[in-house]
Amino acid sequence: MKETAEKDITLGDSVAFVWSIIGRQKAMFFGMLFCASVFAAVEVALPAIGKALFDGIAAYGTTDEIDAKTVWELVFTLFGFLIGFWIFRYGMYFLWIPYSAAYMRKIVEVGFTRVQQFSTSWHNDTFAGVTVRNITRGVTAIDGIMETCLTQFFPTFMVILGSAAYMAFTGHPIMGLALFVFLITFVTITGTISLKVVAPRNRAANEADSHVGGLVADAITCNAAVKVFGAEGQELERISAGLDTWQQRKMRAWYAGATNGILQTVLTVGLRAGFVFTSVYLWTRGQASLGDVYFALSITAVINSYLRDFGTQLRTLQNNINDIDPLAAYMKMTPAVIDAPEAKPLAVTEGGIRFESVTFGYKRGLPPLFHDLSVEIPAGRTVALVGRSGSGKSSFVKLVQRLYDVQGGMIAIDGQNIAGVTQESLHKSIALVPQDPVLFHRTLAENIAYARPDVPLGVIREAARDASIDDFIMSLPEKYNTMVGERGVKLSGGERQRVAIARAIVAARPILVMDEATSSLDSVSEAAIQDALLKMTKGRTTLIIAHRLSTIRRADMILVFDQGRIAEQGSHEQLLAKNGVYKGLYDAQVGGLIL
Ligand SMILES: Nc1ncnc2c1ncn2[C@@H]1O[C@H](COP(=O)(O)OP(=O)(O)O)[C@@H](O)[C@H]1O
Ligand SMILES: [Mg+2]
Repeated sequence: MKETAEKDITLGDSVAFVWSIIGRQKAMFFGMLFCASVFAAVEVALPAIGKALFDGIAAYGTTDEIDAKTVWELVFTLFGFLIGFWIFRYGMYFLWIPYSAAYMRKIVEVGFTRVQQFSTSWHNDTFAGVTVRNITRGVTAIDGIMETCLTQFFPTFMVILGSAAYMAFTGHPIMGLALFVFLITFVTITGTISLKVVAPRNRAANEADSHVGGLVADAITCNAAVKVFGAEGQELERISAGLDTWQQRKMRAWYAGATNGILQTVLTVGLRAGFVFTSVYLWTRGQASLGDVYFALSITAVINSYLRDFGTQLRTLQNNINDIDPLAAYMKMTPAVIDAPEAKPLAVTEGGIRFESVTFGYKRGLPPLFHDLSVEIPAGRTVALVGRSGSGKSSFVKLVQRLYDVQGGMIAIDGQNIAGVTQESLHKSIALVPQDPVLFHRTLAENIAYARPDVPLGVIREAARDASIDDFIMSLPEKYNTMVGERGVKLSGGERQRVAIARAIVAARPILVMDEATSSLDSVSEAAIQDALLKMTKGRTTLIIAHRLSTIRRADMILVFDQGRIAEQGSHEQLLAKNGVYKGLYDAQVGGLIL
């Protein structure tokens, strides 16, 4: 399955995923099953001892076989079992504490790791809020599944099977069989309704729920835009529309669940009535003892208490499995960009980049953006990419980072096809200063040192000085320990760009990409960092997307993009002499700006 929506997930996929998490500690898992089996056995043993006790008391004084001593022994055995029951029960809970903490943390790690592998396209197309909820809901869901199975499902089956076996062995095989048949009927009917009617409705409700979550997250993340346009009402309307769907679907799901619950109650009450009637009837005919009647009463009470919970728990289990579905889908999806099976780390020696007949489009089926594009970026040189907005400059540098796979041809760095090296090594060879840098909600020092978290503050400050942001940072009350706000919102665009430049300086990688890295700086601020930029590009292959003539002129080579083609390439003077696209852009310049 490609990176698509999580529609075609089966129960088997979700179960397999859950097992892949909880099955990591098999000894723990089977230890818990053992404890659960023991206390299920005790649940059956207690009414059985009770029956013996009743029969003993009824027989006392009428025959020689039973005496008071035996009756007292039975009473003590009963208490012994009762204590044993609670010891095992709590033993299981104590085992469970480290086990559940381990699988709950694992599911976050596994889910998060997976999501990080997905391509830039996937992240662009997916609400971050939805992804976050999918992962966090998985945590409670997996714990809920374990709780339902280990404290409800599994013991219920054991209790019913144990009771049926006990009845068969104590001279009531028909009643044992009836109990067994009841179990099968009950599970089939309520199971079918839960899976076929309740579950799809729950799933639909969950989808609506995630959708609302996504809308809320989107509106809150973009709160700045909402405020600026006074669009609070408009956002509320969008959310209200989502909530309408959610409300309808949730109610349908709840009604179906409640109806199923009624049916389950009717079945369990019927079982109890049937058993008690039958045992009393057999007693009137002398075919059952007083103890048998007691056993029928108390075992059906035990079964009822389990099955009453079984109804609710089955629905909870269903919800929890629905909550696991998106994570199971993540595991089933193949990330769009993956490391080749024998991918080796990229070894950058010189840093030369070559595009060979590259064909690439964002959407298959539409005409590609780049068609048969070939170009050579010389090692260690600075190459400026110019062209109108939308001509493909950013896409070009994204391909160098392999954020997308090309559909034809190849891109090589120092002769190594980037599709054949590990993505991590590729990304670690390139430092990027984007146009609109995203900063982490961490301190300025942490943001600048992001690529090399261990560097001393001295290195961080030197980079900041080069990016002429040190004075600004030192003027803040908390200096380098200032938190920058979510995505860096507490800084201006120009400040964020300078932090991003400092971050790239600290990263010190052999290839540098600057995508309109200084677009938010005024010319005075830009001039202030020119020296640093020169220093930064020295000895590195640099791709620089810029509109300012001052920046472009200093490049060793200029590539002029026009609708996905490289229309012209050469030095500033050569290109001007050509009197082509570049000349057109140049002529349209205002005060040193190329369009
Ligand atoms: N993630 C994307 N999905 C689909 N189309 C895209 C995406 N990013 C860019 N494009 C399209 O590709 C073309 C080139 O865009 P881009 O490389 O960003 O241009 P530039 O950086 O030169 O302004 C544009 O038509 C743009 O709309
Ligand atoms: Mg761009």
